[in-house]
Amino acid sequence: MSNQSPDEEITFLRQRNAELEKVLEDYHKLQQELEECKQAKTVLEQDLQKTEEQSFLFRMIIEKSVDWIFVKDQNYRYLLVNYTVANSIGKTIEEIIGKDDLELGTSEEIVFGNADKKIRGFRTDDQLVLSGETIHNPYDPAPGCDGKLYILDTRKIPLCNSKGEIFAMLGVSRDVTDRHRAEEELRESETQLRQRTLELEETLKKLQRTQSQLIQSEKMSSLGQLVAGIAHEINNPLNFISGNISYANKHIQDLLNLLKLYQINYPHPVNEIHEQAEVIELNFLQKDLPKLISSIRIGTERIQKIVDSLRTFSHLDQSELKPTNIHHGINSALMLLEHRLHTQPHISRITVIKEYGNLPLIECFPGQLNQVFMNILINAIDALEGIGIHNDKLPISKPKIHISTQVCNSEYITIRIADNGLGMSAEIQQRVFDPFYSTKPVGKGTGLGLYISYQIINEQHNGSLKCISSPGKGAEFVIEIPIRQTQSKSSL
Ligand SMILES: Nc1ncnc2c1ncn2[C@@H]1O[C@H](COP(=O)(O)OP(=O)(O)OP(=O)(O)O)[C@@H](O)[C@H]1O
Ligand SMILES: [Mg+2]
Repeated sequence: MSNQSPDEEITFLRQRNAELEKVLEDYHKLQQELEECKQAKTVLEQDLQKTEEQSFLFRMIIEKSVDWIFVKDQNYRYLLVNYTVANSIGKTIEEIIGKDDLELGTSEEIVFGNADKKIRGFRTDDQLVLSGETIHNPYDPAPGCDGKLYILDTRKIPLCNSKGEIFAMLGVSRDVTDRHRAEEELRESETQLRQRTLELEETLKKLQRTQSQLIQSEKMSSLGQLVAGIAHEINNPLNFISGNISYANKHIQDLLNLLKLYQINYPHPVNEIHEQAEVIELNFLQKDLPKLISSIRIGTERIQKIVDSLRTFSHLDQSELKPTNIHHGINSALMLLEHRLHTQPHISRITVIKEYGNLPLIECFPGQLNQVFMNILINAIDALEGIGIHNDKLPISKPKIHISTQVCNSEYITIRIADNGLGMSAEIQQRVFDPFYSTKPVGKGTGLGLYISYQIINEQHNGSLKCISSPGKGAEFVIEIPIRQTQSKSSL
């Protein structure tokens, strides 16, 4: 039983009641909070499900991707790889995670690169990405299982946490091995094709060269035989004339002397003789006859020279290398062209200036070299006459051909043939040695002269033939040939 007074008891009960009300209130609050928690939990559960769905989706995308997808940490160790990576390198995902490329057995060349083979290296790219760069490497070789080498087209980006600090890198590589191989094969077949085309072009050029050499050599050889035949035929009667001319001269001189004696001793001949002397203009005849004989002698000497030149020029023994006096060849060509230097009515006489050096005998194919001199000299004369020049300028007023020869070192000689004609443009100059290139009217030039000359000098004589010219400044052809040929050759 309580010994409290009723008042005290009432106060106590009131207090108790208040406490109970507080507890009830707390209980309601708790109930409300619990309700809120429940709701929050439902939302969270929904979010979680969504997140799981998304994460599943991401995993599926990563796993099913045919591209290589991987994430590496700051120490280049794999945090994530997809099946494509694992299958390609022949390991399980678990075996790969936590290891770097070297630990997975990748060679140092692939990891650190090889400039000679144009391999940048995984690590080189990784370092750049982990320092904040985004990279694209279109040629990223990666070794696969069974020794297969994949060529990947790789893109790598840095991954940052919420504070913006880089903690890893994401890599996506596409296998472009087949494309690359196809490109390589295409390149190879292109190179082969180009090579083949070059070979064919070269063969075609050779054929053209041989063809034109054959034409020219055939022409020259039959011309040479003809010329040599004519020279021989002329030589026989010429020997008669030149052999008898001194006798004829002596006999005529004797007869004239005798005639003088008659005139001194018989100053008054009979009428018949006197009349006949007047008819035949004896005084003039006596003075003119010696002049006539000497002019016949000059004529035969000139024929003799021409015949000699024809012989030198035709050189039937041209298939052998022979020590040759180059100046004889040039002189014989000039002699044969004499008619063109002198007798063109519409142009002045062409002056030929020779500046011959002291040349040794040159080992060469003399017939061929003479052909070169002839071609260049004819071109020079044509140029001085204005033949084949594309403008309407008149021929040169003081036409000159300047020929000089010199030993340029102990092994080579130089022959320069220059004219003061109208020269040629850069385009023409580039093409003068091309076969069948001619600016001359049809029938005047075949365009083979310089082409053949070029072959003769460069290929048959291991020398060089160059053309120096500019419009209005004439043209100079410079021949350089060795004094001695090292390897024995035979001409066509
Ligand atoms: N001395 C020169 N001055 C100006 N042009 C020249 C001279 N020599 C050659 N040429 C140019 O070079 C071209 C080619 O010369 P090339 O001797 O090969 O052939 P061509 O003289 O025309 O004919 P071909 O010699 O076969 O009868 C000439 O048509 C001419 O345009
Ligand atoms: Mg010519």
